[in-house]
Amino acid sequence: MCGIVGYIGKQEVVPILLEGLSKLEYRGYDSAGVAIYNNNKVTVRKNKGRLSVLEKALSTEKINGTLGIGHTRWATHGEPSDVNAHPHENTSGDIAVVHNGIIENYMKLKDWLIEEGKEFKSDTDTEVIAHLIDYYFDGDLVLAVQKSIEKLEGAYAIGVISKSNPDQLVAVRKDSPLIVGVGEGENFIASDIPALLKHTRDVYFLDDGDMVILTQENIRILNEFGKEVKKEIFNVTWDVKAAEKGGYQHFMLKEIHEQPNAIKETLSPRIDADGNIDLAEINITKEELSEINKIVIVACGTAYHAGLVGKYAIEKFAKIPVETDVASEFRYRDPFIDKNTLFIAVSQSGETADTLAALREARRRGAKIIAVTNVVGSRISREAEDVFYTWAGPEIAVASTKAYITQLVSMYLIALDLGLKKGTLTKEKYDEVLKELRSLPEKAEQILGDISLIQELADKQFNNQSVFYIGRGIDDYVGREGSLKLKEISYIHSEAIAAGELKHGTIALIEEGTLVIAVATQEHLYEKMLSNIKEVKARGAYVIAIAKENQVEIEKTADKVLYIPETMDELTPILSVIPLQLLAYYIAVARGCDVDKPKNLAKSVTVE
Ligand code: M6R
Repeated sequence: MCGIVGYIGKQEVVPILLEGLSKLEYRGYDSAGVAIYNNNKVTVRKNKGRLSVLEKALSTEKINGTLGIGHTRWATHGEPSDVNAHPHENTSGDIAVVHNGIIENYMKLKDWLIEEGKEFKSDTDTEVIAHLIDYYFDGDLVLAVQKSIEKLEGAYAIGVISKSNPDQLVAVRKDSPLIVGVGEGENFIASDIPALLKHTRDVYFLDDGDMVILTQENIRILNEFGKEVKKEIFNVTWDVKAAEKGGYQHFMLKEIHEQPNAIKETLSPRIDADGNIDLAEINITKEELSEINKIVIVACGTAYHAGLVGKYAIEKFAKIPVETDVASEFRYRDPFIDKNTLFIAVSQSGETADTLAALREARRRGAKIIAVTNVVGSRISREAEDVFYTWAGPEIAVASTKAYITQLVSMYLIALDLGLKKGTLTKEKYDEVLKELRSLPEKAEQILGDISLIQELADKQFNNQSVFYIGRGIDDYVGREGSLKLKEISYIHSEAIAAGELKHGTIALIEEGTLVIAVATQEHLYEKMLSNIKEVKARGAYVIAIAKENQVEIEKTADKVLYIPETMDELTPILSVIPLQLLAYYIAVARGCDVDKPKNLAKSVTVE
């Protein structure tokens, strides 16, 4: 939700914090701030608005210092404003705190601290942390932070500096991400790896309850019981360029174009020398599989849409009943889960609070847990029994694209593997689907090779008030993803519905000129989709269809057709989503939207 960065070393801290924050802006961008220790005081500068506002403000003054913390915010408690921006301070301004997460009992703590004479300035939950540390502070910052977190309920990653401890940066995490960067004569904290890559590739992943005390030369990690622990250093092997725009106008466009490679990266390590799927990371024996009577896939947003395709693929190939549920609903519906349930949590970030809570609920009820995630060492990856990594590489744009495609690939690989193990899929069919799956990077490349019609359509259609997506079967699931993409980056109202549901209500909204996107790739549903297109055309809709190359007669019914290369019906989502992503992207660009940082959104949602 928010991005944290912290530094202690010998270099000037302000540029390091600003550069780190620029790599974390995808986590929230309604305000930003820094706190720097210098000249025996803690100086805080913070502004409402993008990081650029803070950068501009800081460019007019020189604040020296080699210890500091920074923050980029996605507001939860209190509107975006200068005063609600982080860092927050205690009354005397000696202690500064940055925080990612939510302190659930902050109101109670705030009332008590006010009675104790502390003066609050902001509406945030975070400010209580600064005053709490102050309350317990008697010269030992570590002890004061330890005592403070005993009082906190909720989720937090916190970075703290204090005037009295100019040689220390203290940080702590529970249910919100925080990593430690290991340097030479300097050390770092950050919410995510890209913020550190310019300085170090050696990181420690912290566990829940861990506290870290950084000095220039040393890193001490204490676990939740205050006991010092030794951790393995994780070496990040990404190319720094993976987290940069590389000449594209936006990260989203770059990430859309990275999809052919992302499909390959997810597939290749799972195909053995004989051309069979080897899911070494998922430990389910045939015997265990025979006892699994249900699979539950839980996720949010785009990952949920991938889970819907997962349901289709697993039921089709492995003949196991699958429920796909929205994570924010799952734990409130008393789900039927037991030791015979296989639970799959799908999450790009691996830190989505609702997905994590659903995973914990499923574990409590005895299910076997698999995580499908893109982030190594993420919370969800650490709490699952088995982890299936979607090797999409870092996804920076808030709108998920390449992570979605790799989630789809993962779903198909799991479905095929389960199908073969269960004997519900013949080896011939398995080989046929796998061969086709392996041909998809090239076909995806083909779609990306000619996007002129998509751009042309975007330039004509960007002024719509409302857009409808229709489809049947897996085409409906892809339509939902296309609709989400459009609304989140272009702010056009859009809605996706199963085409057969149109006449049960939604068709009342179709009028002259309404844009309808019809995904019509499935042979056995093709005629029915043509009828649905005719229904909306009869009410004046302008229809853009997504169809396979050989389905040319659709041109007689739809106004425009965006073709995808020929592929088997079961696998079309991997291709048909690409024109929808591009259409959403170019419409958003034509409307002048800030594509990578859409309003009100953040890349990972670490609060409920
Ligand atoms: O990191 P996760 O995959 O768990 O995130 C889930 C959703 O928040 C995410 O997919 C969201 O819907 C994206 N903004 C979609 O583009």
